[in-house]
Amino acid sequence: MVGPTIVLGPASSWLRESIVRGFGEKAEVVEAQHKVFPDGESYVRIPLDSLDGRRVLIVQSLPEPQDRSIWQLLLLVDAARRLGAEEIGVYAPYFAYSRQDRVFLRGEPVSVEVLLNTLASLGVKWLFTIDVHNPRSLQSFRGRGVNIMAFQPLVELVKPRLKTKPLILAPDKGAVHRAEHVASLLGSEYDYLEKRRDRVTGEISVTPKTMSVEGRSVVIVDDIISTGGTVARAASMLLDQGASQVLVAVSHALMAGSAREKLSTSGVEAVLSLNTLPPRESVLYADATPVAFNHISEFLL
Ligand code: R5P
Repeated sequence: MVGPTIVLGPASSWLRESIVRGFGEKAEVVEAQHKVFPDGESYVRIPLDSLDGRRVLIVQSLPEPQDRSIWQLLLLVDAARRLGAEEIGVYAPYFAYSRQDRVFLRGEPVSVEVLLNTLASLGVKWLFTIDVHNPRSLQSFRGRGVNIMAFQPLVELVKPRLKTKPLILAPDKGAVHRAEHVASLLGSEYDYLEKRRDRVTGEISVTPKTMSVEGRSVVIVDDIISTGGTVARAASMLLDQGASQVLVAVSHALMAGSAREKLSTSGVEAVLSLNTLPPRESVLYADATPVAFNHISEFLL
């Protein structure tokens, strides 16, 4: 019987070590070759003669530039199929375009579905990702879609930095399931932030729905930091309301544009993230790979 193969895509280099540590003895691990032609087109190659009869896991996160990362992934899936892979799975720790999960304005696409459908039509049978923006989107995948919640390693990173028993806050009601999950791991309380308008002054404030932050450590939990706007606004208001410290814990730290400056100006003490995207200097990382591999083993081994 032939063993499984893991193909590391170009957007997975920072995961190499933890992948080899987790699966190196049980699966062949091979790095895809890649380059960009002078005219901007992408080239990828799996440097093997055959994948005949093998289960193949392609590891490729989908960071900026997202369109290139996605295209590389699609090309790798095609290459694996042409080499004879028996069954193809994809592990994309960060699943780009997941926020366009419905038509908000008439005339828009449902981008996440386009990506899921394309992967399925190329022959991907299993898709593993971490904390996708809306887990319901995976239901439209015509294979097995697994949304992995990997907050435990993030919580281990948060714990030693807390000054007091924390209040865990989601930035809005829709994200409260994440706060609830993290709170259950820490044995602490949770709430979500609500925008309120002062009837007299018209000023907008962001406050927890029911709890007070006075004198407390606060951990804002979200799936994504992109521009940092959501979290920075909340953090400065919570500090004004008396929070003793504000930490931010997210699954995916995109840190687009001036996110780093925005967050440090707002008084956020630390940004902690899972390592689903290329590392940024201003972020502290927890390794999500061991948790992910508990799930991936079902397909690969
Ligand atoms: C939105 O629905 C997401 O869950 C995040 O809250 C959002 O993407 C954060 O974006 P930004 O960092 O640009 O405020």
